[in-house]
Formats: sequence, structure tokens, C-alpha cells
Amino acid sequence: MIFAIETSCDETSVAILSFQGKLLSHIVVNQHNHHKFGGVVPEIASRAHLQILQSIIPQVFEETKIKVKDIDIFCATCGPGLIGGLLVGSTMAKSMAIGNNKPFYPINHLEGHILSPLVSNKINFPFLTLLLTGGHTQIYLVENIGNYKLLGETVDDAVGESFDKVAKLLGLGYPGGPLIEKKALNGNVDSFKLPHPLEFKKTLNFSFSGIKTAVNLLVKKQRRIDEKIKNDISASFQNKIIEILNKRTTLALKLLKKKGYNIKEVAIVGGVAANNKINESFKKLCEENNYNFVFPPQNMCGDNAAMIAWACLQQYKKNIKPDLNFKEDPRWSLSKILNL
Ligand code: KG4
Ligand code: ZN
Repeated sequence: MIFAIETSCDETSVAILSFQGKLLSHIVVNQHNHHKFGGVVPEIASRAHLQILQSIIPQVFEETKIKVKDIDIFCATCGPGLIGGLLVGSTMAKSMAIGNNKPFYPINHLEGHILSPLVSNKINFPFLTLLLTGGHTQIYLVENIGNYKLLGETVDDAVGESFDKVAKLLGLGYPGGPLIEKKALNGNVDSFKLPHPLEFKKTLNFSFSGIKTAVNLLVKKQRRIDEKIKNDISASFQNKIIEILNKRTTLALKLLKKKGYNIKEVAIVGGVAANNKINESFKKLCEENNYNFVFPPQNMCGDNAAMIAWACLQQYKKNIKPDLNFKEDPRWSLSKILNL
């Protein structure tokens, strides 16, 4: 059995996974104490991780009746993320590994997200994945477990971050993604024309900060921000994000085909992948172009320890060695850019 901890941002999570891939226990606690600051405060997050871990670690062992000494491998997210949180989670897991004389695997948070659709889908390598989170917006060619090629990424805000910032401008709260999605249900996608940064550039990079600025100007121009305007801006914004993500994906698939890659599956992963409208748009895009669309189970879109345990299991199966001395790295990147 594998025991995993995830503490890279503002979710504190632990999981126990069997070597057969069965999730035996999984707890995710969202820290709600960051709302009033409009974003995650690293120091508050680290302290909260420490406190929450001390209650949820005993809980997963109690509810499963598994003993700590029966765990074969300990692992934790060691980057990228906020260094305080990374240190809290990994020090805890490393200590448990030392105390029980068992191996420790450092896991890359992005790899956790990237491999998460494999939990619920049979996927052929290579496949294309869009990593859509609050800190990252990247397109990867996943050649195999451990072999990831970065094809493009955001040059400014991450897509989740832009949802959060637009939600803040509309006074909706934090995290913004689910709140914008809800408002957009009652809004008109054509009510506001927002920019499409890098629209005519032949690039696989993204840019979102111009859309946020455009929303800011729009909000300032309104005499009153009533519910209808919030709904309409949310719908127009979300629709523009979908347009951008779909356009870049289409270009990536075209360039890969030209280079002779035989891609069958397209995946979206990360917190933003929980968005139903984005999910539906990818389903349609894939159906129209003969790709299988895959995504993680809903409880593995946002940050969670189950995906960390899963990534650890894949490493173990590939005979990758544990590393107790790994130094936590807030900017741990998975791959260098591959220019298509
Ligand atoms: O993967 P994640 O939980 O954490 C990071 O690794 O960053 O992603 C969090 C991001 C937040 O920006 C949040 O607003 C966004 O995912 N998000 C959504 C939705 N649910 C979460 N964005 C759009 N629509 C959603 N339903
Ligand atoms: Zn994440």
C-alpha cells in the first residue's frame, strides 16, 4: 500500500492506495480561510496544512483499520507549489517513512495531474493533455510514464487564475472557477466582446491577462453591476476561454499530425477540467475530429493526494528509485519546451 500527502497549495489531502490501484481512503480538505484575502496566503496555508494533517492522517488509518507499519511506500508532493506547504507535507511523509523504515518517493504535482485520467480510462501513448490549474496552463505530449514534452504554456496568467481574478472583479468570491461557471449558466455568451490574445499567432502558448484587463475596464464602465451583468460577463468570459483552449488544442493536434505522431486521446486535467462547459466543448471537438476525449474522475480534477499516490504507483512499477533526500522544489518543472 502507498500512503500519499498533497499540500502544494490550499488543499490538504491524504490518501492510501493499494498496489492494485484501489483507492482505500482519500480525504481532501479545502482551506476556506483565504477568502477574505482574495487569494492564497502562503504562511496561513502552511500552518493550516500542519494542523489539518494532524487530524486527517489518524482519520485515514482509523477508518480503514490499516496500520502505519503496513504501508509499503510513503510519498508526497515535492513541487511545484508554495514552499511552506511542500515542506510541511513532505517532511511529514518523509518522517513516517524514516520511522517505519520504508521508502519515500518525491512526486511532481504536475505529473500527478497529468496521469490522473489514467485512473478511469484506458489510454494509448502518446496522448495530448491540457493541464489547466490555478498556477499552470500547459499543453503536454505525454509520450509515456515519465516522458513528457511541453508543447506550449501561458506567458502570463494561468487559466484558473484568470477565472479567480475575474470572479474577484465581479465580487463573486474565491475560488472563482465554480462561481463563474454557475453565473454563466444564466448569462448570454454574446453580450460582451472580449479579446482573444495571440489569436493570429502560430503558437501553442496562451495569454489570459488581456482578458482580465478587458473585464476590469468593462466593470469600471458599468454604472451598476447587477446580477444580469455578472451573469453575462461570466458567460462571455467563460466562452472566450473555451474558444482559446479549443483553438490551441486544434493547432497542437494539427502540428503533431504533421510531425507523424499518431495521437488517439486528448485529455484535460487540473481544477479547471471540472468545468462542465469546458468539458462539453472538448468532447465535441474530439468527436468532430475522431479523437477520444478523456478526463480524470471529478474528485481528482482539483488538488488531491489520490493522484499523487497514483503517480507514485506508476513510478514504482517503472522501477524508478525512491529518494528520501530529494530537496523540495517550488519550481520543479517536468520538461523543457519542444518546439513543433
Ligand atoms: O488544480 P487545482 O485545484 O490547483 C492548482 O494546482 O492550481 O486548480 C485550482 C483552480 C482554481 O483557479 C479554480 O478557480 C479553478 O481551478 N477551478 C475552476 C473550476 N473549479 C475549479 N475553473 C473553472 N471552472 C470550474 N468549475
Ligand atoms: Zn494542482
